[in-house]
Amino acid sequence: MKSLYIIPSALLAAVLLVTSSCSGSSLKGTSTIGSTPEVEKRIDALLSKMTLEEKIGQMNQLSVGGPVENYAEAIRSGQVGSILNDVDPARLNELQKIAVEQSRLGIPLIVGRDVIHGFRTIFPIPLGIAATFDPDLAREGARVAAREATSTGVRWTFSPMLDIARDPRWGRIAEGSGEDTFLDSEMAKAMVRGYQGDILDSTSMAACVKHFVGYGAAEGGRDYNSTFITERQLRNFYLPPFKAGIEAGAMTVMTSFNDNDGVPSTGNKFVVDEVLRDEWNFDGFVVTDWDSMGEMIAHGFASDRKHAAELSINAGVDMDMMTLGFLGELKKLVEEGKVKVSQIDNSVRNILRVKFLLGLFENPYVDPSKIEAYTEENLLAARKTVEESVILLKNDKGTLPLNDKSIRTILVTGPMADAPYEQMGTWVFDGQAEHTATPLSALREKFASTPVRIVYEPGLKFTRESRQSYPEVSAAARNADVILAFLGEEAILSGEAHCLADLNLIGGQSALLEELHKSGKPVVTVVMAGRPLTIERDLPNTDALLYAFHPGTMGGPAITRLLFGDVVPSGKTPITFLRTVGQVPLYYNHNNTGRPYDNNTLLGDIPLGAAQTSLGNTSYYLDYGAYPLFPFGYGLSYTTFSYSDLSLDKKQYSEDDTIHISFRLSNTGNFDAEEVAQVYVRDMVGSVTRPVKELKAFRRVPLAKGESRTVTIDLPVKDLAFWGLDMEYGVESGEFQLMVGGDSRAFMKVNFTVK
Ligand code: NOJ
Repeated sequence: MKSLYIIPSALLAAVLLVTSSCSGSSLKGTSTIGSTPEVEKRIDALLSKMTLEEKIGQMNQLSVGGPVENYAEAIRSGQVGSILNDVDPARLNELQKIAVEQSRLGIPLIVGRDVIHGFRTIFPIPLGIAATFDPDLAREGARVAAREATSTGVRWTFSPMLDIARDPRWGRIAEGSGEDTFLDSEMAKAMVRGYQGDILDSTSMAACVKHFVGYGAAEGGRDYNSTFITERQLRNFYLPPFKAGIEAGAMTVMTSFNDNDGVPSTGNKFVVDEVLRDEWNFDGFVVTDWDSMGEMIAHGFASDRKHAAELSINAGVDMDMMTLGFLGELKKLVEEGKVKVSQIDNSVRNILRVKFLLGLFENPYVDPSKIEAYTEENLLAARKTVEESVILLKNDKGTLPLNDKSIRTILVTGPMADAPYEQMGTWVFDGQAEHTATPLSALREKFASTPVRIVYEPGLKFTRESRQSYPEVSAAARNADVILAFLGEEAILSGEAHCLADLNLIGGQSALLEELHKSGKPVVTVVMAGRPLTIERDLPNTDALLYAFHPGTMGGPAITRLLFGDVVPSGKTPITFLRTVGQVPLYYNHNNTGRPYDNNTLLGDIPLGAAQTSLGNTSYYLDYGAYPLFPFGYGLSYTTFSYSDLSLDKKQYSEDDTIHISFRLSNTGNFDAEEVAQVYVRDMVGSVTRPVKELKAFRRVPLAKGESRTVTIDLPVKDLAFWGLDMEYGVESGEFQLMVGGDSRAFMKVNFTVK
């Protein structure tokens, strides 16, 4: 049954206006999650019947698994508002039945799960999804995940992760959209809309934008570490994706583990209460990360669990994931006068609002005979996402696409060639390896009834293995027409708590590639990894390289289609690829120094006994210069594109104007293909120094070979606003430069002014 509630859009927002006077609720204006006066009345009616204990129970989330009896009594007595980590539909129905039919007020549970890049059908890791620069695909993928997960009873995902990350050592870089605020914001909106659907119905899975906030800036790239982000940086870089997610209707927010400038997020009144609630009017609910309330004790911010609970609720947190701090301490805190019942009421309202809007009161159960998983449609959506996400980073002498007419023997090698579990990547609890199509299986299938021979010699059993020599691989390489090497990282080497200090290909993989190269046969490398690895040393040993991140269930068929030109690569780097880990952090939208890099002398060119002077020197490394291996937004194609004729409709704009950008894009090569055209803007002089460029728009443009097209993009001037010296948000008058191109080096430039 479809419920009546509709996700807010600009139009509906006006209709759904809810004011505090009509509902007596905490809503101050338009509901960000689409509540209505009718819903607010239902919340108030229910709240008026609840005891303090029952209210506190709603604010408690419990991880479950195993026999229902273990949790039955807690749920029956109203001590649990939400559960996570069970996906068995029969058991979830039973647990829900206890809540709905055996607890005093019959309030349904909201069932949460980390559905991060697919439920059963696994899509590329979010960093790979971001590489598509295709929010429509991201939305479709989230919809698939929502349909599959909700069919088992999961109605809440802890996704999307919107943490801006500039440090590939951080394992969780895999889970986000990379380094750019604009790309991240576009993906945020798409994923929230995909999870929740256009209309809230039984396939809607509440999104949870996380981790609020700054978690991706963990010092040293070590997970859970402290961050030191200034308020201006927070507002200009880290908060906008969250705001975008909230504006798209995200129903929940998760606080992060890190302390920023000394304040752990779960106790951070400024970010939760002030920014999220007061400035953005968010009226869904805020959940802690797993025990992040309790962890404030280890941080040295709370003296004990009671203190941690007090700090959390006073910061504006509504639900406690696994500290049992609200359950165990809130009543005492109320009795001691440290927490007001009205605060608890607000939190419960926020939680009930989401439950009502999701239709859980009407439809608490699922039909276990109608589980959706791995349908043809879902697998196709996953395959298409991989096809758009894989990035072509090298293609010497047109090695790719391979021509299956001229190949007789293919050597398939490397530890990721047939690693169904590993290619799914991090945060996969429900995708099943037996449903994963690996490159080896896809290649074997493609050439099953053809004269082409697939020879499989993995060389290394897993990515961390090292060997002295690879005689069997070398022998096979000599007899092959082409070598396909599948390298990368196992799933467990990225993700939460899985950070690395060395970003080179791990184990014996680089040595294996070197060995393959010695055969003199064309080598094509496919990297499947959770982060941008430092592959500079490997590039000379391969003729072509496709970067696939961890591609998920349909990695094999998609990569096979890319290798043989059934589809042309169009992915772009969502994060700067470094030459060496020592360059961290290196990101495209940095500020300029007073001494910008100017091709200065490198280590080898400095004479012995050189005079010591800083004059004429600039900001760079003596050993590695100033540039990355591949810049943000980069990716080759089997064809070539040319950009020309950039023009704007005016030279001067006012703040309310829209800039009409136009340029010519031509496919000058031999393949029909898609190009991700990118628009960057630099604010030349600001009240505070401004980034050398910032991505402001992108467009996927399909072009047949030989085709030329005029591309037009509208950019509202208000999108150039930022938090300036006085901490006011706005566009500052002055000169701007707009740049267009196929990556962040965007060479076509035009200037304009804003008055
Ligand atoms: C901890 C992780 O940080 C968070 O992202 C996740 O959603 C929760 N655990 C629940 O599994």
